[in-house]
This record gives sequence, C-alpha cells and structure tokens, in this order.
Amino acid sequence: MIDNHSHLHLTALRSTTFARTTMYVCLCNAVTERQIREVVERGARSLDDVQRCLPVATSCGCCEQTAQELITSPRSLSPSVAA
Ligand code: FES
Repeated sequence: MIDNHSHLHLTALRSTTFARTTMYVCLCNAVTERQIREVVERGARSLDDVQRCLPVATSCGCCEQTAQELITSPRSLSPSVAA
C-alpha cells in the first residue's frame, strides 16, 4: 500500500514541540542548552569555564562547536527555549 498523504503537518507539529522542550547539546553527557546558558549567565566565558561546571564536550567532542557557539553567542540557538 502506498501512503500518499502529506506528512508536513506532522513535521510542523514535531518542530513546534521540539522548540518548547529541552535541547541536548551533549548527548554523551546529557548536557542541555539551558544548562550551558545558565553557566554562561553566571559568568563562564570559555569552554574551560563551562567544563568546570558541566561535562560538556569531554567525551567524543562532537558537541564542542555547538557549545562554543552557545558560550560566545548565548542566544544563537533556539531562542524560544531561552526565557
Ligand atoms: S556529544 Fe558531547 S562529548 Fe559527545
């Protein structure tokens, strides 16, 4: 059976739901965007500073660039999550 129905409505629903939920930046260590933002708001200015509080980018390193972007431009990702 061929499914000819559009699934665009599901994609829109997922992205809306996703924007309202927590975004994990570091999957290895379950570090969220919100946690990184909070550490930056408390004064962290570098990845080393953030890593003193959170284990982001301490395993595979795939999240390092995203973490760096959050540190240098804290509003750069999913602004709807930041409150
Ligand atoms: S995803 Fe962050 S260290 Fe692997």
